Amino acid sequence: MMKTRAAITGVNSWVPEYKLTNAELETMVDTNDEWIQSRTGVQERRILKGEDMGTSKMAIPAVKGLLEKTNTTPEDVDLVICATVTADMQFPATANIISDQCGMVNAFSFDLNAACSGFIYALTTAAMYIESGRYKKVVVIGADKMSSIIDYTDRATCIIFGDAAGAVLMEPSTDGNGLIDHQLHTDGSGVVHLHQKAGGSARPATHETVDAREHYVYQEGAAVFKFAVTKMADVSEEIMQRNGLTADDIAYLVPHQANKRIIDATASRIGLDEEKVMLNIMKYGNTTNGTIPLCLHEWESKLKKGDNLIISAFGGGFTWGALYLKWAYETPK
Ligand code: UT7
Repeated sequence: MMKTRAAITGVNSWVPEYKLTNAELETMVDTNDEWIQSRTGVQERRILKGEDMGTSKMAIPAVKGLLEKTNTTPEDVDLVICATVTADMQFPATANIISDQCGMVNAFSFDLNAACSGFIYALTTAAMYIESGRYKKVVVIGADKMSSIIDYTDRATCIIFGDAAGAVLMEPSTDGNGLIDHQLHTDGSGVVHLHQKAGGSARPATHETVDAREHYVYQEGAAVFKFAVTKMADVSEEIMQRNGLTADDIAYLVPHQANKRIIDATASRIGLDEEKVMLNIMKYGNTTNGTIPLCLHEWESKLKKGDNLIISAFGGGFTWGALYLKWAYETPK
């Protein structure tokens, strides 16, 4: 019998209705549609509006839909991991709120924070639990309400980010499909270029931190761009090389959607044509942990059993990595 691997056996996503367009941003900050589209690829992003609406409010419908479409009884889920940088609260974990609201009462759950690479870290973590043989059904969520930490007077960040949630079910597979290889990296010296200054234990919230707008994303865009564009391409190329894969073997690149120019550079390095690259940054912007499950859900009906996917991401921390995954199912027509 083949080695037990962890396969994605279902995917779902949920996005808020409100569309924040480039035209609306032009009325908020000194920017323009041409600049935003040519520098980032984004045309519009979704924003979760309303009082007391945290990240879980998007993740819950994404997970409920996932359980329904995969005919999974909530009580049968063993583990729930939520990758997020915008937890509903500092504690407890947003994953716990989602588990409770979706009836996954027998699961243990936790949040995982690796900024924009969180979803691939979480997929890898889930895979380790499954490969151990101890757990059979793991729900992995990537969800962020970025609008809760974005400064809508800062034109360098507010044009990029949006809100979304996605989720996958992972289960054991013995037919050769599933997560084949992963390569994850962290370089903590990158913290200076991308972080949220206040709200953690180092700088708890005070009137001063709020007045100084320190509860928003701080990003030195050009420095992050330089690192991201190299590292995402490097790691995607490395994982292909060490698994003996060429561009012809790859069905799709599933890149974190941070900036279309970063995605184009990664695709070009590994020799992939446009039609083999999942790209929806135009519609949603950078939804941090939401980007990859959002892509997988949008492309789900096109994916075939055995398709080779390279999933790669880069994020604050710095964190980055790539996964080589063989898709495990076909969507019924
Ligand atoms: O998701 C994980 C991690 N994050 C990333 O991967 C993001 C990586 N970084 C980026 O995507 C890009 O750096 C940004 C999209 C954030 C910025 O694009 P850029 O091409 O690196 O612009 P820049 O920051 O170097 O700024 C170039 C110029 C500046 O003007 P001057 O100094 O040349 O006169 C900016 O002030 O563009 C100006 N600028 C804008 N102009 C119009 C910056 N933001 C805007 C804007 N509209 N929204």
